[in-house]
Amino acid sequence: MKHTLYPWDRGFTLRSWREEDSHAMADLHRRSIFASGEDHYTKEQQESWAHGLTANGYTECAKDGEVYIVAVDETDTPIAFCGYKNSEICGLYVDPAHQGRDIGRRLLFRAFINISQIKPDKITLSASAPAKTFYEKYGYKSVGERTYKTRGGIGINVYDMETDQIKYSDQLGPHNGRELSLMLAGQKRVAFFDELNPVEAFEPHISEGKICCHNFPEISQDLYDLIKIRESQLMSFDTAALYYLPGEEARMLELKAALLELTQRNTRERFFQLHRRVGKLLDYPDEAINYYIERRRQRLEEKHG
Ligand SMILES: CC(C)(COP(=O)(O)OP(=O)(O)OC[C@H]1O[C@@H](n2cnc3c(N)ncnc32)[C@H](O)[C@@H]1OP(=O)(O)O)[C@@H](O)C(=O)NCCC(=O)NCCS
Repeated sequence: MKHTLYPWDRGFTLRSWREEDSHAMADLHRRSIFASGEDHYTKEQQESWAHGLTANGYTECAKDGEVYIVAVDETDTPIAFCGYKNSEICGLYVDPAHQGRDIGRRLLFRAFINISQIKPDKITLSASAPAKTFYEKYGYKSVGERTYKTRGGIGINVYDMETDQIKYSDQLGPHNGRELSLMLAGQKRVAFFDELNPVEAFEPHISEGKICCHNFPEISQDLYDLIKIRESQLMSFDTAALYYLPGEEARMLELKAALLELTQRNTRERFFQLHRRVGKLLDYPDEAINYYIERRRQRLEEKHG
């Protein structure tokens, strides 16, 4: 099955796991273990690490609470995946034929934004030796090295890694990490996510009809055009979305219109008026809106007088 990819997908897209992905996942999982070379682990260790990988294993882990995000190509074939459970990243594997295409980073960031919805203090993972520097690049720090007994019984050295304590602010992005819980409690009517979209966290509630989703590719296109002007190397990112409570479609559409107007050239007063309206529509407290507007005003005055 072919599906449409946006320019900012850069040849692949992320979606939630389906049981029928599991065979392709087991295959790429195995290939990615063997592709890491023998700088870190011997052939025997790699075989033991890849031992006993079955398609059914993902179903079992999913039943046990692991959430999978799958990267698929334009034919909807899995080329990488990431699993997470609570605030832990459990695994990240990219098919060797597709490594170096920004897929690992994007999966890691998508897992991060999903996990953020439970507002954890930090995010943890156990890194294989060849992947340690990849995680360090994105702010994960090693807090210990240990031997992990693989499925085949042979030990490999792995690193327990974690982010610094995640800071949440009452002023800037006052709902960050709380969008889903506030919406489920009826205290927030609309949420907006641009280049990082916690699709997997929201999806079960959309299926149950508790939350509605409106994809917002227009804003992603605008972001893509902006980055294209500034950088030759383009990063891939999620398609933006607006989530809203049933019955709040008009509010969502008003927010969409305001956000689109903000991508245009505006007078300074209109710019602030729109930002204030956006904050109101997002149900942010007045203090947070005022703080944000003041900061933007100060910065604009410093820059342009
Ligand atoms: C580690 C892994 C997930 C990275 O995925 P990837 O899609 O190839 O990585 P990306 O293309 O997103 O790379 C993003 C950045 O990280 C860098 N990077 C990728 N792999 C790296 C590694 N092993 N060490 C250091 N940096 C790495 C890239 O150079 C790139 O940097 P840049 O933006 O400056 O160019 C992938 O190589 C893999 O599946 N490895 C084997 C399985 C494994 O060990 N998984 C981890 C188990 S815990």
